Amino acid sequence: MNSLLPVILFIYLHFILTMTKPTLTLEPACKTRCGTLDVKYPFGTGPGCGSPRFHPYVACSPDGTQLLLTTHTGSYPITSISYADSTLTISPPCMSNCTSMQPAPPKFGLDWAGPFQLGSSTFILLACSSSTIKGNPICDPSSAYLCPSIYTCPGVVSLGLPLFPPTNSCCVYSPANLNSNVELDIRELKCAGYTSVVSLGDLPTNPGQWLYGVALKYTLGGLDSYNIAPSCRACEMSGGVCGYSPPRNYFVCVCANGNTTTDCYSYSWIITTSSSLQYSRDLQLGILAIFVFFIVI
Ligand SMILES: *[C@@H]1O[C@H](CO)[C@@H](O)[C@H](O)[C@H]1NC(C)=O
Ligand SMILES: *[C@@H]1O[C@H](CO)[C@@H](O)[C@H](O)[C@H]1NC(C)=O
Repeated sequence: MNSLLPVILFIYLHFILTMTKPTLTLEPACKTRCGTLDVKYPFGTGPGCGSPRFHPYVACSPDGTQLLLTTHTGSYPITSISYADSTLTISPPCMSNCTSMQPAPPKFGLDWAGPFQLGSSTFILLACSSSTIKGNPICDPSSAYLCPSIYTCPGVVSLGLPLFPPTNSCCVYSPANLNSNVELDIRELKCAGYTSVVSLGDLPTNPGQWLYGVALKYTLGGLDSYNIAPSCRACEMSGGVCGYSPPRNYFVCVCANGNTTTDCYSYSWIITTSSSLQYSRDLQLGILAIFVFFIVI
């Protein structure tokens, strides 16, 4: 009996060590943060994370610093997300603001089949030809007061305008509509630049304090909201990240110790990789060791 004891202890120790190993070495495939943003369902930081409907559009940049929305016209850094209101704000790199105005920006577009639509921010078209403005119903006369403010920004000279230009080349495009290609095409509208304002802050006449960005709404599909969301809430509350497994895209909860079909408290590990196979083999070995230990005693 005494000669068996070291063997049993060795097996038992091996079991304890391998139990804790996955936590120390496995980097979860899906992250809960990207740059400064909390990333939760339906968004994900990479393939297999979040909802499959959102994956082709939203992912964390390869260096991990920015969550990006990618459409057929480009990639746009996401600057904020409100999960409660299903809205987010993006910052197109060629959009003008008070400190920096950029002529001839490329088209800004969304994808027709994607889950995003324009939200409540206000587009202002800058340095437009007079034919765009005159009597054009796209320009909202009730918001025209924004034009004298934005035209106090010294950046207007970058658009080929004089300092403090007359405001008859400025158009508050509200409500904004994307064209039939789901794009805002500044050249088609015969303007030199555009900006988009999310909020005016405390001083509506001080464009230096405005919050610039394009607000978007997103919609969860029927499948997302009814089948996946209940399991997803339990997964997120247990410290996991909601994901999906191609090709059939069934729900997975991505945990530090591996993936499950429910939440991170569950032991229903999906055994797919060699490391998780190792995990379950050592678990069996450990149970066997305890069993042998009791028999010997
Ligand atoms: C867990 O799920 C993620 C996302 O779907 C995937 O990238 C990863 O390979 C999975 N890990 C295992 C061990 O199956
Ligand atoms: C203004 O635009 C420039 C160029 O895109 C950007 O670097 C800067 O952060 C923006 N400033 C504000 C206040 O949004």
